[in-house]
Amino acid sequence: MTAIYRQDLITYIYCSHATPAMQPDDMSKIIQLSEKHNPQLEVTGLLTYGGGMFLQWLEGPHHAVHELMGWIRKDPRHECILQLHSASGLDNRLYPNWSMELVAPHDIQNVLEQAAERADSTRHAEAISLLLQLFDEGALAPLKQSAC
Ligand SMILES: Cc1cc2nc3c(=O)[nH]c(=O)nc-3n(C[C@H](O)[C@H](O)[C@H](O)COP(=O)(O)O)c2cc1C
Repeated sequence: MTAIYRQDLITYIYCSHATPAMQPDDMSKIIQLSEKHNPQLEVTGLLTYGGGMFLQWLEGPHHAVHELMGWIRKDPRHECILQLHSASGLDNRLYPNWSMELVAPHDIQNVLEQAAERADSTRHAEAISLLLQLFDEGALAPLKQSAC
């Protein structure tokens, strides 16, 4: 992956609610599109969908993440997009090998906890800790109530 100036590498994490436009086979379409677009944009991350709720962790060059978020915001398959965390000037990515990994809702807390163990950036650790706290408080509970 091309070297990115330190101040340019950002993380953007949000949650959103699916609309009735979100059809059962849309998740695989979204992942297929992400696997096509994200490497071109040098964006990596993970996406979880369950209980009518999305949680996405995006990381990459500032301009690319914002360009991608421009498309994602306009996507009619979700609404109520809420930024949970963003950080800039990162030294490295947490998920450098995931162009957009679909993480099952029942796995997301484990995936975050494992990432926390290898996170060598305070800001990654802060982001993970915030998400785990939101799970503990029940704010992201719909994701976990999914039957998937
Ligand atoms: C929750 C959610 C997350 C998405 N994440 C990505 C993504 O990481 N990368 C991507 O290319 N498209 C993603 N999409 C799809 C985009 O919103 C959009 O449909 C797509 O980029 C349009 O591509 P096209 O113009 O080539 O059809 C996502 C959609 C949703 C609803």
